Amino acid sequence: MDKTKRKAVIAGNWKMNKTPSEAKALLEEIVPAVKDADCEVIACVPYVDLSVALEVTKGTNVKIGAENCHWAESGAFTGEISTGMLKEMGVEYVVLGHSERRQYFGETDETVNKRTKAALAAGLKPIVCVGELLWERECDITEEVIARQIKLDLFDVSAEDVKKTIIAYEPVWAIGTGKTATADQAEEVCGFIRAALAKLYSQEVADAVTIQYGGSMNDGNADELLSKVNVDGGLIGGASLIAEKFAAIVKAASK
Ligand code: PGA
Repeated sequence: MDKTKRKAVIAGNWKMNKTPSEAKALLEEIVPAVKDADCEVIACVPYVDLSVALEVTKGTNVKIGAENCHWAESGAFTGEISTGMLKEMGVEYVVLGHSERRQYFGETDETVNKRTKAALAAGLKPIVCVGELLWERECDITEEVIARQIKLDLFDVSAEDVKKTIIAYEPVWAIGTGKTATADQAEEVCGFIRAALAKLYSQEVADAVTIQYGGSMNDGNADELLSKVNVDGGLIGGASLIAEKFAAIVKAASK
């Protein structure tokens, strides 16, 4: 991968998989397999796995992320987790606005924006997910959808803060379906996101932001996807649950 401006970031998104003991076993395989990585490596895991994940990865090059957070500091929000709780544990990253959260749990760009600002204020690095539905792509409004999400999800986020934010382009039709966007499709939208950031902020800011592709990325297609100039890494679901596959993607991003 020839990335002169940005270091690649490979993040696993475990979703609702792995109990704490299973998480420990998986990370014990992942840690040695990615120890020579020349890219950033993150595992975003269920809340209940965070503690063991932080323990197993302590002192290694694997960073730990959560899969969501609430925007309030504390209060009557049964079942939610605050940024302060994550920060105190030593969590560094948090996935926000994943399409599954939007689709099944009623998240909107407004709540994604609130969570993003809260995460940044607490010193967590958000991985903000955007992406179009199949129907939206078929109607040829992918760019409108993405431009709107970027604008709303990052509303009121400063230039300094947006540089700490990772954007994950995840076409909803490619998530968990085995259908990957082609490398050209991924590059087209990741490039569009960078141009949108340049318009909202500046070219300098846009060049500093990490933009990942996510959606059925695996050890077989990572090389080609990551060869694209605007694809700075991947947010990996299914393939992040198999140490060998995840390590192969990390290796592709380290080239
Ligand atoms: P997938 O998931 O790699 O299983 O398609 C990606 C994601 O949802 O982040």
